[in-house]
Amino acid sequence: MTEKDFIPGKAGTLPEKGTISWQAPSNIALVKYWGKRPGQLPTNPSVSFTLDTSATRTTVKYRRVATPSGVPTFQIFLDGVEAPHFADKISTFFERISIYQPFLGAYKLEIRTENTFPHSSGIASSASGMAALSLCLMDLERAIYPDLKEELFKKKASFLARLGSGSAARSIEGGLVEWGRQESIPGSSDLYGIPYPFEVHSIFRSFQDTILLVDKGEKQVSSTVGHGLMQGHPFADSRFDQARQHLDGLRPVLQEGDLPAFISLVESEALSLHAMMMSSNPYFILMKPGTLEIINSIWAYRRETGTPVCFTLDAGANVHLLYPEENKEVVSAFIQEELLSYCQDGQYLKDQVGSGALRL
Ligand code: PMV
Repeated sequence: MTEKDFIPGKAGTLPEKGTISWQAPSNIALVKYWGKRPGQLPTNPSVSFTLDTSATRTTVKYRRVATPSGVPTFQIFLDGVEAPHFADKISTFFERISIYQPFLGAYKLEIRTENTFPHSSGIASSASGMAALSLCLMDLERAIYPDLKEELFKKKASFLARLGSGSAARSIEGGLVEWGRQESIPGSSDLYGIPYPFEVHSIFRSFQDTILLVDKGEKQVSSTVGHGLMQGHPFADSRFDQARQHLDGLRPVLQEGDLPAFISLVESEALSLHAMMMSSNPYFILMKPGTLEIINSIWAYRRETGTPVCFTLDAGANVHLLYPEENKEVVSAFIQEELLSYCQDGQYLKDQVGSGALRL
């Protein structure tokens, strides 16, 4: 599909008013997206686990206005409190999607959003937030175009979400989601995420993700700036090649449930992502001392016990601990005894692979 396929035809009757609610999950990338081209297109493909309990719930109330314009007027509330600091981001998003949902300009929207994780946790809510909002907007589109097929509904929700925040393209479907064109992956696209189309061993269907909150503060360098620094980065091309190779390398690993290979690929991805940050111009470091302490503890624990637990990182200091469900108890004891002291206020979030967005 191309961008043009997401431009709708002539609108039917526009509903006067209504209310829609969706819940969309957060996701954690195994192969990381870092670097983008104009139009929120990724410079390399990525794949992620959809999470289960870390999610955003959004309700959109829409009402037709007397004089339509190019973009909708809106108010945004976070946890019941008006959140004007989000307005710029949402306005930019509405401008970007206006060609794909021109009917939005005929509406005033009241957007109410809340996260299931504490907003001071340092966990980015842009992926789940943009996905939940896009799904609400797609429901409005379906009210106008009742023939809209389910497959297009999901693809376009991912397509719109991507225009809000790249990784949000991977926060619609459940399980494993791939985003970005890769020759060897049928149906893959830079425009939207797709359910990972190959066989996946059952061990990865219930994989656990415990998020250790090392630093709950605001990041010093935003993802937007970080992606931008990949332009002209001396190692950019090798990094993009590496991500492509890792994505292909993951296929037999996921199919066979090869945990040692999974661990080495996933940890290598996390450290390569941060290595790109450290070698940007200007350079920066998002890991904190606690992040490194945890990584070293995981390596020592794995060496001593053979438990297949590994880490990954997103663009921040928090550590995602990934492990099979059958190791839940021993890993929980390990976290309590050895890792909690590195978490800010002893906080962590328990999550696992989830089944995707849900209409509420
Ligand atoms: O979606 P963004 O622009 O916030 O970028 C997310 C980038 C990483 O989380 C670091 C990697 C990824 O693929 O999710």
